[in-house]
Amino acid sequence: MDSALIRLEGLCRHYQVGGETVRALDGLDLELARGDYAAIMGPSGSGKSTLMNILGCLDRPTAGSCWLDGHALHENWDDGVVSRLRGRLIGFVFQTFNLLPRLDALENVELPLVYQGVSAPERRERARRCLERVGLGDRLRHRPMELSGGQRQRVAVARALVTDPGLLLADEPTGNLDSRSTAEILDLMDGLHAEGQTLVLVTHEDEVARRARRVIHLRDGRLERVDLRA
Ligand SMILES: Nc1ncnc2c1ncn2[C@@H]1O[C@H](COP(=O)(O)OP(=O)(O)O)[C@@H](O)[C@H]1O
Ligand SMILES: [Mg+2]
Repeated sequence: MDSALIRLEGLCRHYQVGGETVRALDGLDLELARGDYAAIMGPSGSGKSTLMNILGCLDRPTAGSCWLDGHALHENWDDGVVSRLRGRLIGFVFQTFNLLPRLDALENVELPLVYQGVSAPERRERARRCLERVGLGDRLRHRPMELSGGQRQRVAVARALVTDPGLLLADEPTGNLDSRSTAEILDLMDGLHAEGQTLVLVTHEDEVARRARRVIHLRDGRLERVDLRA
């Protein structure tokens, strides 16, 4: 068994735009173990979101290798392996929450389990537990509009956790939050890390990156350096 949860070798994602090549990722080598907590930093356009989308199995590398939990994404993209892996391994949190406005918190969190064919009573119970885990046990029937930004993001974290993912990915999860809500989300992430959850998040803010064990600096689609917290 591969001890790394994530292993990237010479990873490239090039886009062809009007006859030019945009090298969003350009030869990235990286390894992350299970249980790690990594923050990805870098200037705008350095490839952070592109990397997250590949790790989240939402986008495919154009060259190089990517193994997730021992599965070679670069070899298995078309045969259903990747979509199964995405459902089983990945939880994704977005900067803009991406909740469905007509559904209440419970229904939003249940949704990934609907796609997995989990029975209604079990879905409800698991969604309720996850909302309690993020401190929203008293907001189950609130719709997104009836929640604060920080609460919405906590619903989104609960939705990402409800499938019990091996890897939680968050692309600028505090980018739309005030400092108090940011602190709530970061405390939540700390707790998840302490429980053994593997976390990778993207951020612009030093305050956010400081919480991580490892800070990965990208520049022009390449690894600039990795800082490890003592
Ligand atoms: N769909 C796309 N088509 C062409 N170029 C893209 C596309 N998505 C991203 N890029 C380019 O790839 C580079 C990296 O983008 P991105 O990963 O979004 O950066 P970051 O998240 O670090 O700001 C940027 O130069 C961006 O313009
Ligand atoms: Mg981005």
